[in-house]
Formats: sequence, structure tokens, C-alpha cells
Amino acid sequence: SWRAMKTFTIHCKHTAAMSTLLINQPKYAWLKELGLAEDNNGVYHGTWGGQGEVITSYCPANNEPIARVRQATLSEYEETVQKSKEAWKVWADIPAPKRGEIVRQIGDALRKKIDVLGRLVSLEMGKIYVEGVGEVQEYIDVCDYAVGLSRMIGGPILPSERPGHALLEQWNPVGLVGIITAFNFPVAVYGWNNALALICGNVSCLNSCPLLFTRIVAEVLEHNSLPGAICSMTCGGADVGTAMAKDERVNLLSFTGSTQVGKSVGMMVQERFGRQLLELGGNNAIIVFEDADLNLVVPSAVFASVGTAGQRCTTTRRLILHESVHDTVVERIAKAYKQVRIGDPWDATTMYGPLHTKQAVEQYLAAVEKAKEQGGTVVCGGKVIDRPGNYVEPTIITGLAHDAPIVHTETFVPILYVLKFKEEEEAFGWNNEVKQGLSSSIFTKDMGRVFRWLGPKGSDCGIVNVNIPTSGAEIGGAFGGEKHTGGGRESGSDSWKQYMRRSTCTINYSKELPLAQGIKFE
Ligand code: UN1
Repeated sequence: SWRAMKTFTIHCKHTAAMSTLLINQPKYAWLKELGLAEDNNGVYHGTWGGQGEVITSYCPANNEPIARVRQATLSEYEETVQKSKEAWKVWADIPAPKRGEIVRQIGDALRKKIDVLGRLVSLEMGKIYVEGVGEVQEYIDVCDYAVGLSRMIGGPILPSERPGHALLEQWNPVGLVGIITAFNFPVAVYGWNNALALICGNVSCLNSCPLLFTRIVAEVLEHNSLPGAICSMTCGGADVGTAMAKDERVNLLSFTGSTQVGKSVGMMVQERFGRQLLELGGNNAIIVFEDADLNLVVPSAVFASVGTAGQRCTTTRRLILHESVHDTVVERIAKAYKQVRIGDPWDATTMYGPLHTKQAVEQYLAAVEKAKEQGGTVVCGGKVIDRPGNYVEPTIITGLAHDAPIVHTETFVPILYVLKFKEEEEAFGWNNEVKQGLSSSIFTKDMGRVFRWLGPKGSDCGIVNVNIPTSGAEIGGAFGGEKHTGGGRESGSDSWKQYMRRSTCTINYSKELPLAQGIKFE
């Protein structure tokens, strides 16, 4: 199913006709103040709609229904694409720095509401409050970045071999960018794609439902008398996702989610020679060498494996320890795990919240069992926590072979596999032997090793770190990874190029017609 594992329809599970929605309780009155209602429209293209399946959003911390969303039908999807294409005609004519000004206003609108938006992310996704706020911050940061880019991007003028000729690159928007995001970063990933797509001159259509964020963007567009369909939304299920993947009018499809779903999306897009940007699974390792500063290692490993309850694509899943520090590090990390404060994600002191779904709890239990079968020892955790919501104990497992099947599987839960190594080459090899290629870190003080790690025989990942964790990348760099991670790059550096098409332009301003390669055709 499209919603398996990392889903693209955030926090929207199954239909329920419950009358006890959280939104009606006084404690959650702030949801209504934000503009949410019992039933919410899941379609926007200048006007709001939603005539498809009604789904209920549940809070992962207690499995209570929050509110309902009316999803898009296929005919509403069709209408949205048509409106988007009309809106593009207006948007593409606006100079890039003026488009940047609109993105600046979106960033400012987010700044004004960052606390309450962070709280909403926490309630719906289950990540802790500071991480919810952090995600909104990530959207704000990428808006700032995109505003700067809107006055910088362009192509070079290259030397032509022919007299009286100019050779230059012109970059144009691709047109309509389809965005499918995952449940775990509903805001940041939308933000990376939307901010860059916009300054490049594209319109976007989001096939997920961060309703409030769409509303904030819509308000900015409408306030500037621009068509709302510049940033549309069709909150929908597999039918709408498939329609988008197969739709030739979707000029770029940016998909974040599991490798399994990403593969089928990628094949549908490739089938029509469409353009895609895939940001899929990771199986990220931290390698700790004998000379590492353990005072950096311990908090890094704990943040990257326990943070977001193990539900980041950049989560550390494998901790590869040199034999000389293995026991000390395991002991110190296990001690730190026991101090992690578990609670309601929105409470200020909580460090660790629930998994997103009940299904994820099942996947967690199955993975712990498999790890035991394959020779692993559970050092801490391994059990479901007895409280409402989808809580499981953060778990450390030692003693597995580096190539045990479970170690090579990305289970989107807080289980850390600890491996023991002797030689650098062996550790680098283990880092690279998994299918995924997203993020990776080493801890060392050896400069030679640092540069070997960065070089051709070092990490094969898209994100290659030294003395910091695998998760928590800044927006300024290109984000994404190799192999089964999908190859796409989002956010910083020159990721904007993926949202544009390049024209190589040769202009003859002479009265002669010299041919390239000196060919005489006469
Ligand atoms: C994701 O998990 O899909 O580097 C994105 C990080 C965050 C983004 C994670 N900035 O962990």
C-alpha cells in the first residue's frame, strides 16, 4: 500500500466517525484558534474543497482522534492541475527577485506562528515540541535561503569557438512540481521543495495534508493578489498519488518516503520520461575510532538514534565501534538511554515521544525478535511501554554480524545496532555495504582518516560527517543520498537546478556562418 512504512499522507489514517474529537476539548481550543475545524478541506487551488474519502487524524501519543480531513477525488485532482497550469502563466512572468519577495513573506508568516505551529506538528506527528518548532524553523531557513537565491541563480556565458557567436546557458522553470512528503517531516520537506520551486518560477501541487501550512502560503498569495493555485494541495490517497506520478503535466515529481514506495513512484515517472527527485530510506552509521572524543560520541549517538523516536531518514541505525572503545561506549550510551525523559511530546521536558502508528509498534516488535534470532543481545529496551499511545522503549542491540539481514534493513523505529570492528578499511566497508546511501559519520581526530573518509574510498553517502551525528543537517547543503536512497538532492547548494531546465543557447551575431568543429559544408 502507498501508505506503508513512511507514508505520504501525513498523520491521516483511517476513517472514524467519532464525536469525541480532541479539537472539541477545551484543552485543544488553540486548534480552532488556528483555523482548524472538526472537518477540514483537503483540497486547495485558489478555493478550498474536498469531496473524497474522509480520513481522521489521530494523535500518536494517545491514539485519540484530533479532527477529520476531506480528501481529494480524482476529478478534483484534475481540476487542480488545470488551475495550476493557468496560475503558472502568471507566476512565470514575475521576475525571480519578486518571486523571492513572496517567499520572504511566507517565511515571515511562519515566524509569527512558529510556536503554535510547532505545537501542532508535535500533536499530530508525535515528535517532541522542540523538534516540531525546529521543523518550522527549517522551513523558515529555507525561505531565507531561497530569497537570496532568487537574486543569484543563473547560468554562465561560455567561450564559443566560433567568431561572432555567444554560447550561454539559460535556466527556465520546469513548470508544475508535484510534492509528496512523508509523515515524519511534514513541514520541512514541503518547505524545501516549495520555497525552491517558487523562486525558480514553478507552481507546486502538494499531495499531502499539512493543511495549516497550505493556508499560510495561500494567505500570502491571496494578500498579494496572486492565484492561489500557485501552491495547490490535493490531500489524497494512493489514487491521487498514482495519478500524479503518471501525469505528463507534472514536470517534476519530488517524493520523500520509503524506498519501496519510492521505487514504484520512480518507475511510473521514468515510464513517461518525467523528472523525479527521490529522497528515500537510509541505513545510517556512526563509526567511532579509537582516538574519538567520547564526550562528543555519546550525546551524538543518543540524539541521532533516540531523537524523533528513530523516525528520521537520517536516524543512526548502526553504531560501528572500534573494539578498544566498544564496551565503554555501549555502557555510557545505555546509561544515557535510561535518562531519556519519555512523555507527552508537547511537554517541554519530554525528550522522547511515541511512534507514529500502531503498525510501527508492530514493526518494532518484529525487528527486536528478528535481531534476537540473528544473534543479537538486547542491552536496553526491546519492549512496548505500558501507557496510551504508540510508545516503545528506545533499544540498543549488540553482538550482531555487520551483515545480518536485520542490520541491513531500515526499520523506521528507535533500534540501534552496535557492531564491533578492528580496522578502518573494514569499518568504511561496512558503512558502504548497505543498499541505502543517505548519511554517515565518523568520530576521530586523525586528519588523514578524515580525508580518506571524504575521498573516493570513503563514505559513499550523500551526507558525510565528521565528529557530528548523522541526523540534523543544515538547510544550506544539498540534502539527499545515493543508491536506494534515490539520488535526489533537496534544499541547499545547487539543488535549485533540479527545479529548472537548462537550455544551451548559441547566438550568432556575425554575418558569417562558421560551423562547429571547423566543418566546411559547401
Ligand atoms: C527526513 O528525515 O526525511 O537532517 C529529513 C535531518 C533533518 C531532515 C530529515 N534536517 O535530520
